[in-house]
Amino acid sequence: MLELTGVTHVYANGTRALDDVSLSIPKGMYGLLGPNGAGKSTLMRTVATLQTPTAGSIRFGDIDVIAEPEKLRERLGYLPQDFGVYPRVSAYDMLDHMAVLKGVASARERKETVETLLNQTNLWNVRKKAIAGFSGGMRQRFGIAQALIGNPELIIVDEPTAGLDPEERNRFLNLLAEIGENVVIILSTHIVEDVADLCPRMAVLAAGKIQLEGAPQELIAQSRGNVWAKTIERDQLEDYRSRHEVISTRLFAGKTIVHILAPSDPGDGFTSVSGGLEDVYFSTLARTRRVPMPAAA
Ligand SMILES: Nc1ncnc2c1ncn2[C@@H]1O[C@H](COP(=O)(O)OP(=O)(O)OP(=O)(O)O)[C@@H](O)[C@H]1O
Ligand SMILES: [Mg+2]
Repeated sequence: MLELTGVTHVYANGTRALDDVSLSIPKGMYGLLGPNGAGKSTLMRTVATLQTPTAGSIRFGDIDVIAEPEKLRERLGYLPQDFGVYPRVSAYDMLDHMAVLKGVASARERKETVETLLNQTNLWNVRKKAIAGFSGGMRQRFGIAQALIGNPELIIVDEPTAGLDPEERNRFLNLLAEIGENVVIILSTHIVEDVADLCPRMAVLAAGKIQLEGAPQELIAQSRGNVWAKTIERDQLEDYRSRHEVISTRLFAGKTIVHILAPSDPGDGFTSVSGGLEDVYFSTLARTRRVPMPAAA
């Protein structure tokens, strides 16, 4: 169990990237969903002990993460959003090197670790190729391979599916799903399906705050009866926006399908739709936007 209590992070320029975040994250896949700039990477870097929060506490099992970062690192696997530079070193050599850094001392054990991970992430055939020449999907699979060195109990992956084609995205998500239920896996994303498909629990982070937390199915059930749809002409959209709480719009065959939020039948030709997680997410963001953003200190 990973436990965050009142975690706040204010950057030197005054940006309040995290604002009193409290979360209990159990074992299994946990989805952290939020738009650009929500604070996802800040949260993940903070839990990964790469930065110290301005306030708050973090516990992982019996570890006080802020006081004992080195203990957490022994149990952590982290896939950052951006590696920066990709080395001209082969995948095999790089994993071997990283296994040394992770403390896998014996050469025999390292060989076994590296070969298992290369097979698991389907990189065996390209193990001798330089990582610099990898495609986006291969890079992300390499990223998860390095995160899995040393059997971590806490795995943090920051927007791993952004930019992947559907096939690579599936391959990546299946890989995560196979890791097992005995570890805490936090997956940040702005893609609703990533969470809907494989996270038993999730939170929505926006403007540095947790806006919503729970099991996707329960959150969807709670929104039932509140989401209404209608197909309109594109030029009518502004009019509808002024009269209804529009949560999402989608073009379909030259027309626009609007989804609105309303506690009871809004009339006007709308029909009730059984909302999905996307409706839950967009209505949460719509609500967030109505609240004025906190001024930078
Ligand atoms: N080093 C920094 N110095 C100052 N402000 C920062 C720094 N890093 C991030 N921020 C700001 O903090 C806020 C949260 O950024 P963060 O990168 O955590 O969001 P995110 O949810 O990961 O976004 P994205 O989906 O684009 O990756 C943003 O307003 C961002 O501009
Ligand atoms: Mg980010």
